[in-house]
Amino acid sequence: MDGERPLFIPVILGTARQGRMSLPVEKLMISELSRRAGIETELIDVARMPLRIDDAGEAIKDPTFSAQMNRADALVVVSPEYNHGYSGLLKHALDSCLKEYIHKAVGIMGVSAGPFGGTRGIQDLLPVLRELGLVTIFWDVNFSTVQSVFDESGALRDQAYLPRIDKFLKELVWMARTLRHGREHVALE
Ligand SMILES: Cc1cc2nc3c(=O)[nH]c(=O)nc-3n(C[C@H](O)[C@H](O)[C@H](O)COP(=O)(O)O)c2cc1C
Repeated sequence: MDGERPLFIPVILGTARQGRMSLPVEKLMISELSRRAGIETELIDVARMPLRIDDAGEAIKDPTFSAQMNRADALVVVSPEYNHGYSGLLKHALDSCLKEYIHKAVGIMGVSAGPFGGTRGIQDLLPVLRELGLVTIFWDVNFSTVQSVFDESGALRDQAYLPRIDKFLKELVWMARTLRHGREHVALE
């Protein structure tokens, strides 16, 4: 990526639940993105977004989140599984932007206490992301029984996740670079 300006790949933490195990997942991804050359990242915590709940959609757009989505080349969404679906607050936050997402890449990290690594929530999130204009990659990272994946300090216990994250990020970066090229050089006829 010599000479290319860095890709901006923020990570959205999709829950405000107290004691959320999606937080160490997000921190791990921020750390993995930060140590790769040519990538800038930022944590976006839905719990800290000033989102009104008496309205929905672009009417409640937060200028900071909108600017982050405009700048983004790709997103990583950390998606906890709640009752076999995705988090309502994650959807509420994503719904607040629209044109900001178009022709940008997205990858999902599923998180669950159960054995399926958030896959049921991921499958339901895919058509939502597509409708937003995002381009989904074909790798996910699935954190099953997440309570045993990290120790009390939030450090990763199971090193088998690192090669999976590497594969996921290689694909996400390829898609982000390809789509950036398309946005900047290929006209929509
Ligand atoms: C409302 C709610 C529903 C949940 N439903 C499921 C579920 O359907 N399947 C599952 O494996 N875990 C379920 N869990 C557990 C979460 O997946 C678990 O808390 C996991 O750590 C990811 O979410 P967290 O970031 O809030 O911790 C649920 C948790 C909550 C709060």
